[in-house]
Amino acid sequence: MGLNVIMMGPPGAGKGTQAERFARARGLPKISTGDILRDGIKRELAAAVEAKARMDRGELVEDATMIEIVRNRLLQPDTTPGFVLDGFPRTVPQAKALDEIIDERGKGPLVVVDVVVPESELIRRLAGRRICSTCGTNAEPADGASRAVCGKCGGELVQRTDDNDNVVSERLKVYTRQTQPLVDYYRERATFRVVNGAQAPERVAHELDTVIGDAAAVGAAMGTEPT
Ligand code: AP5
Ligand code: MG
Repeated sequence: MGLNVIMMGPPGAGKGTQAERFARARGLPKISTGDILRDGIKRELAAAVEAKARMDRGELVEDATMIEIVRNRLLQPDTTPGFVLDGFPRTVPQAKALDEIIDERGKGPLVVVDVVVPESELIRRLAGRRICSTCGTNAEPADGASRAVCGKCGGELVQRTDDNDNVVSERLKVYTRQTQPLVDYYRERATFRVVNGAQAPERVAHELDTVIGDAAAVGAAMGTEPT
């Protein structure tokens, strides 16, 4: 049976870091809507270029655009064993659309994990984050040797265009207003879990592994997708 995971949490919670790690360990594709948009901007794809202004202001991109992107991505054959979603859904309409897509697919339970981190720590992390201008990955936090070069591909490390103070503050507000209500949308499900993201990455990964394994078993025993 497949394993479908949503990694939820505010900007800087470590969704991308943990989704990458978990997906690699389980042989699942990590589907990050932020990465898809940033890659589309680099490749000058119309929908992504149109989305850029909103991203740079810290606002959400329209639901219809995001749902279309995710629907198409989930049609790819590599998602047959499941997937790890990072940054989607972010609104209740997106969550409803995802439920419909999963109903149509019928491949395994949906596990939802909310990664919780205090706001002061989110602000600290985002102010310090650098990403590679070539491969788009986060610079490793422990990459003390050279803060200027990507450890994976040697590309130049830069600040994400939405990581300056004003935009971070807007992203946090948008999260509270538009994405936090999703926690209520999912909370009553037997496959919803909360993880403390304010620990060392290895500890967060360990906790995630445990709770996702447990929730997936519960979901599989129920023999259903979302309930
Ligand atoms: P997106 O790229 O998804 O950004 P975000 O949600 O704001 O989250 P981040 O990527 O900033 O944080 P993260 O939780 O992934 O943390 P990370 O692992 O990098 O979206 C960007 C924009 O795209 C949105 O604002 C919107 O405009 C648009 N968009 C995307 N999806 C959309 C959707 N579905 N609908 C509408 N619009 C959409 O970690 C952060 C930093 O902390 C890193 O430096 C990392 O190394 C470090 N770190 C990670 N874990 C730890 C730890 N445990 N301890 C210490 N440091 C840590
Ligand atoms: Mg991210």
